[in-house]
Amino acid sequence: MPSLQAGDFRSHRAFAEADTDRFWLEEASRLAWFKAPTRAKDLSQEGVAAWFPDGELNTAWLCLDAHVAAGQGARTALIYDSPVTGQKAQWSFEALRDRVARVAGGLAGLGVEKGDRVVIYMPMVPEALIAMLACARLGAIHSVVFGGFAGRELAVRIDDAAPKVLLTASCGLEADRVIPYGPLVEEALALAARPPKHCVVLERPEAVMALQPGRDHSWTAFEAGAAPVDAVPLAATDPLYILYTSGTTGKPKGVVRDHGGHAVALAASMARVYDTGPGDVFWAASDVGWVVGHSYICYAPLLVGATTVLYEGKPVRTPDASAFWRVMAEYGVKTFFTAPTAFRAMRKEDPEAALRQGYDLSRLKRLMLAGERCDPPTLEWLQDRLAIPVIDHWWQTETGSPICALPAEASWVPKIGSSGVPMPGYELAVLNEAGEPQGPGISGQLALALPLPPGTLPTVWGDPARFSEAYLARFPGYYDTGDGGYIDEDGYVFVMGRTDDVINVAGHRLSTGEIEEAVAGHDAVAECAVVGASDPDRGEVPVGFVVIKDGVNQPPESLEPALLSHVRQALGAFVYFRRAVLVPRLPKTRSGKILRSVLRDLLEGRPPVVPSTIDDVRIVEEIAEALAKTAGSDA
Ligand code: COA
Ligand code: AMP
Repeated sequence: MPSLQAGDFRSHRAFAEADTDRFWLEEASRLAWFKAPTRAKDLSQEGVAAWFPDGELNTAWLCLDAHVAAGQGARTALIYDSPVTGQKAQWSFEALRDRVARVAGGLAGLGVEKGDRVVIYMPMVPEALIAMLACARLGAIHSVVFGGFAGRELAVRIDDAAPKVLLTASCGLEADRVIPYGPLVEEALALAARPPKHCVVLERPEAVMALQPGRDHSWTAFEAGAAPVDAVPLAATDPLYILYTSGTTGKPKGVVRDHGGHAVALAASMARVYDTGPGDVFWAASDVGWVVGHSYICYAPLLVGATTVLYEGKPVRTPDASAFWRVMAEYGVKTFFTAPTAFRAMRKEDPEAALRQGYDLSRLKRLMLAGERCDPPTLEWLQDRLAIPVIDHWWQTETGSPICALPAEASWVPKIGSSGVPMPGYELAVLNEAGEPQGPGISGQLALALPLPPGTLPTVWGDPARFSEAYLARFPGYYDTGDGGYIDEDGYVFVMGRTDDVINVAGHRLSTGEIEEAVAGHDAVAECAVVGASDPDRGEVPVGFVVIKDGVNQPPESLEPALLSHVRQALGAFVYFRRAVLVPRLPKTRSGKILRSVLRDLLEGRPPVVPSTIDDVRIVEEIAEALAKTAGSDA
């Protein structure tokens, strides 16, 4: 009989395939449930699983109280390192539990109960993690909004989640400047149709935010004045959080994560992929606003009793390209996780990694990359400089943990360009347009057979129909990942990029539809198309092709900066919309569909593949000319 107690990765994967339910119940038995599940899953008509339906637990309790109860309360849970403020601090599991319990009490005092939503719009400060865990403790559903989003985007997410409370801070800090949150929050609250009744503001010394009596509360008083509360027992299927992610339309999708499946999947991944257990130091250099921040800054390290590092800084400019090496050495990081773009930035400033000298990296055992495809030169650069496995692995907001990775066992050797092999529970197929599985080496759409394993999204918040349409409708019986790629003869997976209108800018997932909506919001714009262009530093950057309304007299030289600044205001600077090409028309099919692939070809300098359905082929030449004219000014 197969078992998790014995065997290697291959036998675990075979176990998961042969007896899925028993495999996951065994994985689940590693956690301290309030009520252990007796059933692995219930299946919906569409084949979507609700995992561990009769189990009861609380993720925040597992992350904190469980370790205190096991006598490990004095161990370090959280290290905060902030080169942008010059602060460093640490909390033990017990100290963090006490702060979380008080903040949960404060939220309860504002009327937050199980099932209520709380939006968290905060920079990379310990209070962001405390806020997430406090919500989880109460059974409230948090929705963290990345601090780089502008007010309008915050408003869109507030309206979808309809939170009782907004937790925020007076500012965020970038390498070279302070970003006051006050104007962004006020704009969002003014735009929102369903604003929260209460805002709790973490007042940072770098910026003052005027508090509105009756609505706003100072974090310090809020936390100090609150009575601690215990963790609420929750059904495994109760939602833990909503995280909005870019889809193919302008409206972000609220990916829902449950308590039980999530905890089981994360704990399993820490052993199987990240080689991290109690007492190890784990650092994911991402942001709490993204899924990596949720899974691997906040929840997973704490679940397994490891120390998590929360770093408020950049890989470069805080103060230089030695920043990551310094943090790894200073805290004895064992497993490090970031997006390849961070290393591209470091490599650009320090091509030989000379700044690594003097830092003791002997405790670093594993370097994990995700968020975008790792370009082979960056991978090779790292492999040449670090005598440890450098592992590209693939996952998405929707899955919450890796779909593919390289198992932690030493016998698994990475292949350059591949993001490893499917993890137990993920049955990955390469499908052609007709939905037929393809053989080794043949490219197609990457799809996952249903049911998906624990930890994956059970639905889209408030919109089950969108969940079905966006993910399940295209290939019945499968979840469509939106990524294309192939599997080689040895079973290694090569993810080649999105096949939809999602682009990846410096590890940030963005929808071109969302950017198009923002561009179209400028008064001068008649219509526009946004596509991703390859970029040596950021992987991809958005480029707009914009048709200006008749009668607009503004000179083109001032229109482009106006459009760029408009998008920056509407969405946020991190979107990196730095090029808008003014064109007389957009290439379209006779039925009016914009031919984005033609725009992409022209941008990349490839001979465009022009379909016979184009309504007027002369437009291709016109756009090529417009691009040639602006190329000089970009250089
Ligand atoms: N709040 C406010 N503004 C933000 C922000 C935030 N949280 N994050 C980024 N910005 C702003 C930056 O200040 C910058 O503004 P500017 O145009 O005025 O200079 C702009 O958005 C672009 O930011 P960024 O892409 O971060 O560029 P950068 O040059 O500051 O840093 C990298 C480049 C590669 C170092 C950085 O993008 C990075 O670390 N990326 C990794 C991303 C990541 O962790 N992804 C998660 C998946 S693992
Ligand atoms: P996000 O939901 O922000 O995590 O972004 C998920 C998307 O990032 C995926 O659908 C992929 O397009 C891309 N991605 C993440 N990791 C990888 C990887 N290792 N290789 C290739 N693409 C990746």
